[in-house]
Amino acid sequence: ARAGAIIPAAGFGTRMGADRPKQFLELAGAPVLIRTIRIFLDHPAISAVVVALPPSHYQQSLELFTRYLASPLPAKLILTRGGASRQKSVSHGLAALPPQIDTVLVHDGARPLVSDRVIGRCLTGVASHGAVIAAVPAKDTLKEVDPESGRIITTIDRSRVWLAQTPQAMRRELLEQAFRQAAEDGFTGTDEASLLEHGNIPVYVVAGDEQNIKLTRPGDLTLASSLLGESGK
Ligand code: C5P
Repeated sequence: ARAGAIIPAAGFGTRMGADRPKQFLELAGAPVLIRTIRIFLDHPAISAVVVALPPSHYQQSLELFTRYLASPLPAKLILTRGGASRQKSVSHGLAALPPQIDTVLVHDGARPLVSDRVIGRCLTGVASHGAVIAAVPAKDTLKEVDPESGRIITTIDRSRVWLAQTPQAMRRELLEQAFRQAAEDGFTGTDEASLLEHGNIPVYVVAGDEQNIKLTRPGDLTLASSLLGESGK
C-alpha cells in the first residue's frame, strides 16, 4: 500500500480566543501545525502529505513552512486551500492527493502530539479492516442531558463509548465513495468515520492515546507543552 496523509488545518480556532488560527500558535518553539506536519513528513511509510490551509492565511503559511521546514519545501509536501468546513477541507485534500496513493490517513492539524505508534496502529488496522480510527475508551460517567433544562435524561453505558481522535485511516476508494454518497445525500459529519458510517462502510477503532489531544481551548497549549516536556521531544 502507498499511504498519504491529509491534514485539515483550515479552521479559525475561534474557541482558542487567540489573534490567529490555533494551528499557528507556538508550542515549545515551533508552530503547532509545523510540529504536526513534521511527524507525517518524517514517517517512512507515508509518501505524501497534503495540508489544507486557510485561504486567508495561505501566503503566511508558505512563509512559515519555508522558515521551519526547508527551502525549497520537501517534495512530499503538497499544499492546498481548505474550505468552509472540515469536511470540505478534507475533500479538497483528497482531490490534491497524488493518484498512486491508495491509503489515506486524515489527521487534525491541531493534534501535534500524535505518536508514530498510533500512526503505525492505524496503518496496520487499515490493511486488515479497510477503515479504522484512533480512539480511546471513555473514562468518565456519561450523561445524556436535555439541552434546554439541563436535566439528565439518562446515563449512557460507558463500556460501549469511545472518544474519536485522528488519524482516521481508510482505503482511498472507501473515502472517495463516502464523500460521493455524503454529497448526494447532503450529509455532513464532524469526522471522516461518520461519512463512512453513513454509507454503511464498516469502520473499526484502534487504540489511540490519551496524550493525542486536540488543541481547542487556551489551556490546551499549556497542557500540550507539559506533555511534550514529559516525553522529551
Ligand atoms: O474545529 P475543530 O477543532 O474540530 O477542527 C479540527 C481540524 O479541522 C483542525 O485542524 C482545523 O484546522 C480543521 N478545519 C479545517 N477546515 C475548516 C474547519 C476546521 O481544515 N473549515
